[in-house]
Amino acid sequence: MKNILVTGGAGFIGSAFVRHMVNTYPDYNIICYDKLTYAGNMDNLLDVSDEENYRFERGDIADRAKVQQTLAEHQIDTIVNFAAESHVDRSILDPDAFIHTDVVGVYILLDEGRKHGVGRFCHVSTDEVYGDIEDGLSVEDDRFLPNSPYAASKAGGELMVRAYNVTYGMDTVVTRGSNTYGPYQYPEKLIPFFTTEAIDDKPLPLYGDGKQVRDWLYVDDHARGVDVVLHKGESGEAYNLAGENQRFNIDVTKRILSILDKPESLVKHVPDREGHDRRYAMTAEKVRDLGWVREYDFDKGIEATVKWYMENEWWWRKIKTGEYLEFYKQQYSERLASADES
Ligand code: NAD
Ligand code: TYD
Repeated sequence: MKNILVTGGAGFIGSAFVRHMVNTYPDYNIICYDKLTYAGNMDNLLDVSDEENYRFERGDIADRAKVQQTLAEHQIDTIVNFAAESHVDRSILDPDAFIHTDVVGVYILLDEGRKHGVGRFCHVSTDEVYGDIEDGLSVEDDRFLPNSPYAASKAGGELMVRAYNVTYGMDTVVTRGSNTYGPYQYPEKLIPFFTTEAIDDKPLPLYGDGKQVRDWLYVDDHARGVDVVLHKGESGEAYNLAGENQRFNIDVTKRILSILDKPESLVKHVPDREGHDRRYAMTAEKVRDLGWVREYDFDKGIEATVKWYMENEWWWRKIKTGEYLEFYKQQYSERLASADES
């Protein structure tokens, strides 16, 4: 590996991975390729912007000509794909962009990568492909039962990665991460959304009874996990990057409020998300054998995260304008109004 294309590197987890790779491997060239959608943010990359082994290219992974040109210009030998539309609620409002990026985009990246002679292709996927897990823990060979348009589009992209491995012998690996949290996460996802809303004493719209379970993983552990799989994963294999840290949403919410010293009366139970998966839970046995060790437990991770949003209002206040407010209105206005009536 010498010239690594990191797609979606201006997003939440992708930017943590770029920072990690630029600092850990000075002899690699890290080329970040990102469309800069509403979720892409150059502020996420400020820490590395002056580093010699880092470059940025703006582009869409579904733009064949631009992908082709970028692979050639930077003599790319390795691709790590984080690029995706990533928010379940937005996929319910409009699945279109999810098919464009998470299915078609992944196919174009694979296809151009193969033609260009790229070696390793590491694809970042999600535990949501397994669907709702009533009990037990998902293992890598479990069947896919995605329930949201987001999860289905991620499953589609991942299956195309598998096909390129089996059919064309492409050197692919896949990671399936669990719910990730930490600094620089777009404030539409549960933890940064509730943290930044609570800082402003705004209501926290908790879906349904709040007893849904998610398995939380700190972002730097996720980034290191992708590094481990990229370097040590076996071609054709998928690896669960599990937090092995299951929590009820209501408990995560109360924890955020207690760190901020805000009252629990901010919590509003609102009508549930359509098709809402009750529980995700995976085991990380397989990737542990490659040497992955998490450095953050939930106590340390959530404290560090909430503190970061408290100290970095410059980062999130300018996001919570314009398009963000449109989405907020569409997603929450009616829900919060009906919560007030109940
Ligand atoms: P994010 O939404 O913060 O960032 C996505 C990035 O991809 C943005 O920078 C965006 O501009 C870019 N992008 C979107 N469409 C693009 C396109 N067509 N071409 C090029 N760039 C494009 O997402 P994230 O939370 O950092 O997630 C990164 C990856 O990890 C995704 O593939 C997601 O499915 C996966 N994942 C996320 C979580 C989580 O909890 N956030 C958990 C498991 C897996
Ligand atoms: P989210 O961060 O959107 O991640 P995912 O849907 O990929 O798991 O949501 C995490 C959990 O929090 C999920 O069970 C939905 C719930 N949730 C709420 O209750 N209210 C909200 O406003 C949001 C964004 C999420």
